[in-house]
Amino acid sequence: MTKIALIGAGNIGGELAAAIARRELAEHVVLFDIPQKESFAKGKALDLEQNGAIEGYDTKVTGTSKWEDCAGSDVLIVTAGIPRKPGQDRKDIIGTNLPIIRNVADNAKLHCPNAFVIVISNPLDAMVYEFMKRTSWPREKIVGMAGVLDSARFQLFLAREANVSVKDVRAMVLGGHGDQMVPVASACTINGVPASQLVADDKFNAIVDRTRKGGGEIVGLMGTSAYYAPALSAVAMAEAYLHDQKRLLASAAYLSGEYGYSGFFMGVPTIIGRGGVEKILEIALTDAEKKMLADSAVAVKEIVDIVNAG
Ligand code: FUM
Repeated sequence: MTKIALIGAGNIGGELAAAIARRELAEHVVLFDIPQKESFAKGKALDLEQNGAIEGYDTKVTGTSKWEDCAGSDVLIVTAGIPRKPGQDRKDIIGTNLPIIRNVADNAKLHCPNAFVIVISNPLDAMVYEFMKRTSWPREKIVGMAGVLDSARFQLFLAREANVSVKDVRAMVLGGHGDQMVPVASACTINGVPASQLVADDKFNAIVDRTRKGGGEIVGLMGTSAYYAPALSAVAMAEAYLHDQKRLLASAAYLSGEYGYSGFFMGVPTIIGRGGVEKILEIALTDAEKKMLADSAVAVKEIVDIVNAG
């Protein structure tokens, strides 16, 4: 029986549970939150189970605040912590989210030691780093979700500008999940046609800028973080793992010399299959993209330093 535990029953947690149940990606989904929110988690879980009678799925959904209920999970998706508010930088929420991720890491190690871990909590690059530092989780079994989401935003903006279906746009965003992220122009195609043939340079540059600020744009509009696309991005990663799909997805992976960086997580092209992060691909980048990646690495290291000092 496949079991997925969702740590955090907020907006993203609820969307995750709904998407997993609809796909019957797991027989059992556990929606976990702190004791003060247990009743809310139980209510969401019951609502989703009742929804199965309408949509036609049999997925069991459990709301809980007990880590014992997460035991034996195949996949753990962590959204615990507060989201950004308008005007806040991702760094502003480190102080609040650091003790939360530490508590999650300690309990995950105790109750779900074999799970494939996908961290979504922000600031992403710092939270996934702290989880691994605290638990010594094997590096192939832990990733941060950001690249799939940032790439989706990049793809959408390109599709709208080129007036084509988003289904045909392939594009990837690497680097940290911050305003220095790296939309890779050289790897961007519309069904194999270089995007540069369909999107003018000035428009392309505006899209790169909008992609980099994509999370903040939604925070500004809604007063809280996005949740539909973030949840589906993590589901794609979980599915790649559970179904051994060997998908090439941009993930925040722990670097040990790849692209010249070591000792922290950053968005890179990964192959995700049943072995977890089975491979980190070192793709050719232009000099400009390498420079952007270097700038992004500096920004990631800055927040990792804050975490290490905290
Ligand atoms: O607050 C945030 O950085 C939200 C993340 C995202 O939606 O990318």
